[in-house]
Amino acid sequence: MSDARRKEPRLPDDGVGITGARVLVVGATGEIGGLAARSLHRRGAAVALAGRDARRLAERSRRSGACPHRVFDAYDLDGCEGLAAWAVRSLGGLDRVVVAVGVAGFGSAEHVGEAAAEHLMTVNALAPMAVVRGALPLLEAGGAVAVVTGAVVDAPPRGMADYAAAKAALAVWLGVVGREQRARGVRVLDVRMPHLEGGFAARAVTGSPPALPPGADPVATVERLLVAPLAGAAGRER
Ligand SMILES: NC(=O)c1ccc[n+]([C@@H]2O[C@H](COP(=O)([O-])OP(=O)(O)OC[C@H]3O[C@@H](n4cnc5c(N)ncnc54)[C@H](OP(=O)(O)O)[C@@H]3O)[C@@H](O)[C@H]2O)c1
Repeated sequence: MSDARRKEPRLPDDGVGITGARVLVVGATGEIGGLAARSLHRRGAAVALAGRDARRLAERSRRSGACPHRVFDAYDLDGCEGLAAWAVRSLGGLDRVVVAVGVAGFGSAEHVGEAAAEHLMTVNALAPMAVVRGALPLLEAGGAVAVVTGAVVDAPPRGMADYAAAKAALAVWLGVVGREQRARGVRVLDVRMPHLEGGFAARAVTGSPPALPPGADPVATVERLLVAPLAGAAGRER
């Protein structure tokens, strides 16, 4: 049976408090966004999915109960900013946002061309910021956004200056926004994901990845660092 036709059983809410929440997942065509969308749907959230690859997006929508879906490109920052308003129209409101858009890039700084540098900053920093900027006025007290940055923020390795700088810029921005939103009761979560098993590094926009150690288990890690904190059960708020 294909993924599209397999009906996944709904999970009990098990205390993470996401049942019935209306959630926009941006980057739902990726590994992390796809796992988050599937978990949130299985836990009873109403999800709206945004991604770049139209075919994969449609497939993931089918796997999440034929939920609303929208194609976007990170280079269209106005389009990124408009995703939350689309989700409100599609879901009848918005309680949570997941942003899992990004692309890797490798090579020492002098070997990264300006086009690649712009690409890394746009997809990893400006686009996620635009999505969150559009969502903030639409979220009410109790709402939350979870944005995937990365462990590189805390330990930027050589050969990844542009990628790490983009993630660090996003992390600083999220920290300030989190403090700005605290009085409104909107949580801003900076998810510093570790290296996961999967093909993220191999999809780099420039350069080749170094030999990497085995990554963490994607399903368990996305559940622990993204889904559970987003639902409000636990997690690190900045
Ligand atoms: N995987 C890891 O080991 C790891 C570790 C730390 C942090 N992270 C971060 O986690 C996030 C998700 O990573 P992942 O592992 O899920 O990677 P992934 O499977 O490659 O997914 C990346 C996502 O970003 C989207 N994307 C890339 N360029 C885009 C563009 N120009 N316009 C619109 N969407 C674009 C992709 O869309 P399409 O697939 O539709 O093209 C996909 O939805 C990234 O921010 C990454 O930096 C990942």
